[in-house]
Amino acid sequence: MKLSKPKLLVARAMFLDELACLNDYFELELNQEDHIFSPEELEQRLQGKLGMICTSSAKINQALLMKLPELKIISTIAVGYDNFDLQACTQYRVMATNAPDVLNETTADFAWALMMATARRVSEAEHFLRAGEWKKWGVDFFVGADIHGACLGILGMGRIGQAIARRAAGFGMKVIYHNRSRLSADQELAAHHARYVDKETLLRESDHLILALPYSSHSHHSITAAELALMKSSATLINIARGGIVNDLDLIQALQAKRIAGAGLDVFENEPRFHPDFLALKNVVLTPHIASASERTRRAMVRRAIANVIAVARGETPPDLLNRDVLEM
Ligand code: DGY
Repeated sequence: MKLSKPKLLVARAMFLDELACLNDYFELELNQEDHIFSPEELEQRLQGKLGMICTSSAKINQALLMKLPELKIISTIAVGYDNFDLQACTQYRVMATNAPDVLNETTADFAWALMMATARRVSEAEHFLRAGEWKKWGVDFFVGADIHGACLGILGMGRIGQAIARRAAGFGMKVIYHNRSRLSADQELAAHHARYVDKETLLRESDHLILALPYSSHSHHSITAAELALMKSSATLINIARGGIVNDLDLIQALQAKRIAGAGLDVFENEPRFHPDFLALKNVVLTPHIASASERTRRAMVRRAIANVIAVARGETPPDLLNRDVLEM
């Protein structure tokens, strides 16, 4: 008798050619129409499933897990996993995995794109041109801040932060950083001689400050009015990390008052329903959470999530297991 395969939910639309290899291990339920499941729908879709591949849009908590006794693995294609309650996962013997490393370079590229666009006012200038307002050139026409030779500050010096720092070599920048723990001397050297400083010094000295730290209850509102008040009035703030790390209302007020020169934001509190007052500001560059969005990288993220669920189907430990304590349960 042929044994039936375990069931797997792929909760968002993904590259079908990448997913094809899953058919050897699982009976798949796809969502190629890319409908965003409500918590109730997600619960219903997960009934009887051994696993799920998802993105940051799937919120996994105790209330959900207690109703899913067959679930063994939740595998996000993202590196960030603030949508998973890891303690609840362990409690309900569910392995949680993410997709680290594969997006470091692409995300670092994008941090630079946002920093450069913000410092040199690219979006603002383009909107001006598109609106037909370009009548004459002027000496102070869209003057911005230099990147080369400036001081790059990085809050959160994990693998993405270090990839951002390495790029500073080509622009002759000085790099300073703050992180929960200091990097080793070798890592600092490789990160363009990054210098560890306390958070206050980082805020005071950075010409361009990039946020690259993971979101958690500890990093919630790491940047509020108090931190913005310490920054140079000529500085820019770039967030490619997560909404919630910045208090968006405080940032809006600082930008309105020109407390800092500008912000480049790929992530927002309550995205995709971000604060509408951002739209009225000229000194922001706004993008819809696309820092890792190159086709090659998005495919690599999906492949990493696939490798994690296949490991579980084979009875192996998934390579990117986040809650290792689940193995002792
Ligand atoms: C990540 O991988 O965490 C990106 O932000 C996409 O969600």
